[in-house]
Amino acid sequence: MRGKRILLVIGGGIAAFKALDLIRRLRERGASVTPVLTRAAEEFVTPLSVSALAANKVYRDLFDLTDEAEMGHIQLSRSADLIVVAPATADLLARMAQGRADDLASTLLLATDTRVLVAPAMNVRMWNHPATQRNLAVLRGDGVLFTGPNEGDMACGEYGPGRMSEPLEIVAAVEAAFAAGPLAGRHVLVTSGPTHEPIDPVRYIANRSSGAQGTALARALLALGARVTFVTGPATVPPPEGAHVVRVETASQMLAAVQAALPADAAVFAAAVADWHVANASESKMKKQAGNAPALEFAENPDILATISKGPQRPALVVGFAAETDDVIAHATAKLARKGCDWIVANDVSPATGIMGGTENAVTIIRQDGSDTWPRMTKDLVARRLAEEIAKTL
Ligand code: C5P
Repeated sequence: MRGKRILLVIGGGIAAFKALDLIRRLRERGASVTPVLTRAAEEFVTPLSVSALAANKVYRDLFDLTDEAEMGHIQLSRSADLIVVAPATADLLARMAQGRADDLASTLLLATDTRVLVAPAMNVRMWNHPATQRNLAVLRGDGVLFTGPNEGDMACGEYGPGRMSEPLEIVAAVEAAFAAGPLAGRHVLVTSGPTHEPIDPVRYIANRSSGAQGTALARALLALGARVTFVTGPATVPPPEGAHVVRVETASQMLAAVQAALPADAAVFAAAVADWHVANASESKMKKQAGNAPALEFAENPDILATISKGPQRPALVVGFAAETDDVIAHATAKLARKGCDWIVANDVSPATGIMGGTENAVTIIRQDGSDTWPRMTKDLVARRLAEEIAKTL
């Protein structure tokens, strides 16, 4: 669960107090929790205690314009690896089943494309009512996951099914949701970040890649249950938690690390690998000599993507990236053939786009049999869509 982002929707029932312990248990296991409180939930637990336990802002109101500016509800609903609704009241389940969007919680649940795990809690008669049972059937059909309810004494004095699962049972269901993702049991290799090619022991040639897209992709693959080996050059963003991280500096080290990580079911080459290294790199620091600038000689680096695509241990799916500044589609299509990969994710990194080092990306996926251009969106969303495409293909 380490590194997973959980959006926790707390509904308005007496079991809301257990959500406080749930937050603690999830965080103990390395997950981050973004809490959302319904109006009714605020009658049972205070936003302050939820926020303090989650060490995060609590989202409460759909029309809180500060929130919209910081993070729109669409993005909030999709930036999580899993949405957990605990407790889910009969009313919240009914609104989910109907696709209502009349408060923040229901809007998030309607806007999301993230998997949703629900822990119902309600009076036994409400649970057994045909209306609730109909809503459950609808939600199950929509792919919503459930944990509980348990049978037992209820706060209202009755006995029967309707008690919310205990926090540790919900934690187990969260773990199972990740373990049962569509990429469970699959090994995916991701390269990311720039490479550094030394000139001498203190100087190097690098590029502006931050590693953001590769990191986002690794996280998205992890969220779908994949085992991820993440081979990264010296990136500026921290590597994803939960991946097996292999740090390298140069292109030739990256190739060796990639080869050592095979076999894999899929490999995604998101690293911005230097095309050349300095052939006459100096073993000791080059000294400045007035009027005598050193002449660097370059030699080609191995093409990791092409080597793996054409190699004996080729993964079933090989995806390359193409960062171009002009004629993006034409260049990327040629690259697909030259490198021998299955897909190229092409993007325009002209300085005016702000994509290189930025948070957004606009990509075209080029396959042997055609291409898809996606609208400009966050690198996180590009990653999630790409991970889903990979899951569908494997
Ligand atoms: O040739 P170009 O650098 O534009 O190709 C981009 C794609 O090839 C990316 O997927 C990149 O990770 C990969 N690549 C590589 N090894 C290189 C150069 C590029 O794996 N030496």
